[in-house]
Amino acid sequence: MTRNHVESLELVTHSARETFDIGTRLGALLAPGDTVCLEGDLGSGKTCLTQGIGHGMGVDDVITSPTFVLINEYIPSQRGGRLYHVDLYRIEREDDLVTLGLEDYIYGNGITVIEWAERARDYMPRERLWVTLTYLDPSSRRLRFEAVGAHYAEVVRALREALTGHAADDAAANTAANAAGNTGGNAIGME
Ligand SMILES: Nc1ncnc2c1ncn2[C@@H]1O[C@H](COP(=O)(O)OP(=O)(O)O)[C@@H](O)[C@H]1O
Ligand SMILES: [Mg+2]
Repeated sequence: MTRNHVESLELVTHSARETFDIGTRLGALLAPGDTVCLEGDLGSGKTCLTQGIGHGMGVDDVITSPTFVLINEYIPSQRGGRLYHVDLYRIEREDDLVTLGLEDYIYGNGITVIEWAERARDYMPRERLWVTLTYLDPSSRRLRFEAVGAHYAEVVRALREALTGHAADDAAANTAANAAGNTGGNAIGME
């Protein structure tokens, strides 16, 4: 685990709008082929964050939970690529993942965002961005971003920079981001 290839960021949002906006920042930083794994209980904000990611990628369509179909595909209007929005809530057996062709999405050229990723932990790529969302109170959620792999580490550094306005510098920047997240939305640079 070299310092350059593992990177994390933790913050607290105080409204759905803030979570959406962070998703938008993230969506603008993701590259074709990326995988974002979302872990968190019902109502923790996974779909909200995904909607922001889509917005940041230039998807104009309304992104809804793919509750019945498991995967929804969106095409950004401004640039190429795809957003694959996967929801594994209804997955019951590992066979379902094979039927779903999950690996084709993950290892394809689109950006794949997976809700309930922990239900298919063994199928997730080794290098990925893992986001754990935690319900704190009706309007607050904790978002923890954990990157594995050089590319995702760079994404998290850039996200931290975008949110705090500071160049990332290891623990100091992490501390700044945590402090900002704990004291209120304004401090993390939301517009
Ligand atoms: N800080 C916040 N971040 C995200 N969602 C929030 C926040 N505060 C309140 N909410 C509400 O919580 C709900 C989150 O729902 P959703 O994104 O569908 O969760 P999930 O996909 O994890 O089940 C929405 O109704 C949203 O308006
Ligand atoms: Mg959802």
